[in-house]
Amino acid sequence: MSTTSPEATSPEMMMAERKVYIETLGCQMNQNDSELMFGLLAKEGFSPTENRKEADLVIINTCQIRANSEDKAYSYLGAWRKLKKERPGVKIAMAGCVAQQAKDEVVGRVPFIDLVFGTQNIHELPQLVRQVFDDQSSAAKLVAVQRQKDKSTYDYFEDITPIRKSTVSAWVTIIEGCDYFCTYCVVPYTRGRQISRPAASILDEVKQLADSGYREITLLGQTVDAYGKDFTHSTYGLADLMEDIHEQVPGIDRIRFMTSHPLDLSDRIIQAVADLPRVMEYIHIPMQAGNSEVLERMRRGYTKEQYFDLIDKIRDRIPTCAISGDFIVGFPGETESQFQETIEAVRRVRFSAANVAAYSARKQTPAGLWENRGEGQVSEAEKDDRLQRLNAVIAEVTYDINREFEGQTVEVLVEGKSKRQKFDRWRGRTRTNTVVNFDCLNPDMDLTGQLVPVDISEVRPFTLQGVFDPLRQSIELGMPHSPQPV
Ligand code: SAH
Ligand code: SF4
Ligand code: F3S
Repeated sequence: MSTTSPEATSPEMMMAERKVYIETLGCQMNQNDSELMFGLLAKEGFSPTENRKEADLVIINTCQIRANSEDKAYSYLGAWRKLKKERPGVKIAMAGCVAQQAKDEVVGRVPFIDLVFGTQNIHELPQLVRQVFDDQSSAAKLVAVQRQKDKSTYDYFEDITPIRKSTVSAWVTIIEGCDYFCTYCVVPYTRGRQISRPAASILDEVKQLADSGYREITLLGQTVDAYGKDFTHSTYGLADLMEDIHEQVPGIDRIRFMTSHPLDLSDRIIQAVADLPRVMEYIHIPMQAGNSEVLERMRRGYTKEQYFDLIDKIRDRIPTCAISGDFIVGFPGETESQFQETIEAVRRVRFSAANVAAYSARKQTPAGLWENRGEGQVSEAEKDDRLQRLNAVIAEVTYDINREFEGQTVEVLVEGKSKRQKFDRWRGRTRTNTVVNFDCLNPDMDLTGQLVPVDISEVRPFTLQGVFDPLRQSIELGMPHSPQPV
């Protein structure tokens, strides 16, 4: 695993050579939290390992968004009982969104667990781990779950270098939590209220990333476009932040942001995407449902028409802008004809990608109560059927969009070698976030982290295939970062 090197400042680092394994089950913010944990633990002398059998500390970073995400956390932990049996000295911890909600309950369900800490306590990890390792009694359990941090938690980012898997593309969390309380969603409970990170701290991190060779950043938040709304004496928002990054950190070739909420996607943000060439023309704006009554019961705050107007405005100003989204099928009370409106919406908006989930009742939420009372419950078989039908339409629409790339030359940021390809092929993404697998006519080049023009020769429903000819095309296109032979 390639990593950025953490600063070797603490004396503990010299003394101990311990290893930490983290299994990450959640969204990008949860994955970014794991990278932060690695960074925090590096200062305690822990280096990351991908083999949990050799780890001294094993952490599961959990997600609670659907019942099956939560079940997965416990089934991993069940399997880890063996680790503890074989090596009683190993410490096992649960982090993330399930930990934040389940707290002490986890100790009851997983008696061998050593540490449970919530999303609001990540910054305390060094001290918590010290406590866990110092206390030799095997019965000692530590549960550290705070409801909501009292101020921006980003203070602890100041001197931490997250340890990232990618050397090309980095996630940068800019706003935590969520204030929307959609009726189906656990996020406001698991991640607390919206807190925006100070811009200076973000800019510092992005500058460091550029200095370490990163080429792409994705600004993260559950409602990333609400960035700055909680600043009391300032109107600074996502558009300002992207302008500042664009101007001050030219080494970053690609700036992305996700996830946007339709109510916060302001004209200024759309204009920033239109005007700033290194901000990618790609926006992830979940619609969730295509029917206005369902949207109202979800408490999304917009109607189907308002969502369409937003998309029309984006496409009017940025004709090439790709839109991706999320949908939930089988929300309590959703009828077949309401579901049909979701299918129509996918065709109308022409989503270049969309995640679909069957509605899963979560007990903390209002809709979870309706479903548990049997109000408007859609059967599991029907949810599954809608899921499959919607996915089929999305695949069709995506394929149709991708076919427009056939025979075109597209700009690709190369992430590395394809993992799943039989042959040694390169993998990257277009500006609009579509995956491209391609061959390079010069086999001796290392293209990782380079922007290259790729001729698209074949289109599959979700990916593009092509060829890069370094001699001909880098000169023709004058790419800002021409690949160098190694
Ligand atoms: N903040 C983002 C998404 C957060 S959660 C937004 O507002 O859109 C990621 C996705 O999980 C959601 O977009 C939604 O489609 C899905 N999801 C959330 N709660 C769910 C539930 N109870 N059942 C099924 N899917 C859910
Ligand atoms: Fe959940 Fe809604 Fe907040 Fe998104 S906006 S995180 S769906 S409550
Ligand atoms: Fe899951 Fe928590 Fe993310 S519930 S989707 S890991 S914010």
